[in-house]
Amino acid sequence: MKAAVVGNPIAHSLSPLIHGAWLKAGALDGTYERVLIPLGAFPAEIHRLQAQGLSGVNVTLPFKEEALALADEPSPRAVLAGAANLLVFGADGRICADNTDGEGMLGAVAAQAPGFDLTAAPVLMFGAGGAARGAAAALVAAGAPSVVIVNRTLARAEAIAAELGPKVRAFSLGEAAALISDAGLIVNATSAGLAGQPGFDFPLDRAPRAAVAMDMVYKPLITPFLAQAADLGLRTVDGLEMLIRQAVPSFAAFFGQAPDLSVDVRGLCLAALEPAS
Ligand code: ATR
Repeated sequence: MKAAVVGNPIAHSLSPLIHGAWLKAGALDGTYERVLIPLGAFPAEIHRLQAQGLSGVNVTLPFKEEALALADEPSPRAVLAGAANLLVFGADGRICADNTDGEGMLGAVAAQAPGFDLTAAPVLMFGAGGAARGAAAALVAAGAPSVVIVNRTLARAEAIAAELGPKVRAFSLGEAAALISDAGLIVNATSAGLAGQPGFDFPLDRAPRAAVAMDMVYKPLITPFLAQAADLGLRTVDGLEMLIRQAVPSFAAFFGQAPDLSVDVRGLCLAALEPAS
């Protein structure tokens, strides 16, 4: 049983560490590699890996949209997200696409903010890129009463709202301060705060103290957004937990059994991240 994670760049992906630890714990005869795919070569490289007998691949930036387009059988949640992070190669040669990022996000919230009720209050999300679209789709599907997207470029937020229906609403960044006082979950789906990127000021001081703040970025693990939220006394959920949780259904799809969640993959990832952060 062979699987891989594909992307560009790919050298720093933590997925081989996560899947490798689960393979070892389960005493499974399987491998999980990282494969760099040159830009423009995605379909040919995927077909090459398929021909090598892999069970499937995880897909990361910048190929998630192309992965969805390549699939013969996309799952409904991948279609809603407009992107796939998981391709499974069927015995009949067909390629199934799925998106487990939303499941990862919800799993991370359940793990790090136990008892949080997603259905009780609106979600406020910063950002309207690919990650935000997938997250908004998953949040609506999981029962969020509404998802309020605030973005620097209003048109991108409006495009997601138009795709996902009336529960998703679009606003510009300047309106966030007025909207945040109603939020139950506050998600940073922007790339601001990513190591080396300029940040911006999130108006978290008006958030309810019972709100949960989540960041999708895990480098650094404690982003400026999460640090600000923690200072204000909000519960926080980090991007590393989301990364680990999105890997759970992928592992089952590749290797035919659920991973052993008692393995401390988080500790392994933190040790691997340490020198960089
Ligand atoms: P991804 O597909 O990974 O989500 P993306 O499509 O590049 O990445 O989206 C990045 C998001 O971060 C966008 O919502 C972007 O805002 P714009 O749509 O206005 O570009 C947001 N973003 C990045 N840097 C930002 C900054 N300094 N201030 C505010 N928003 C920022």
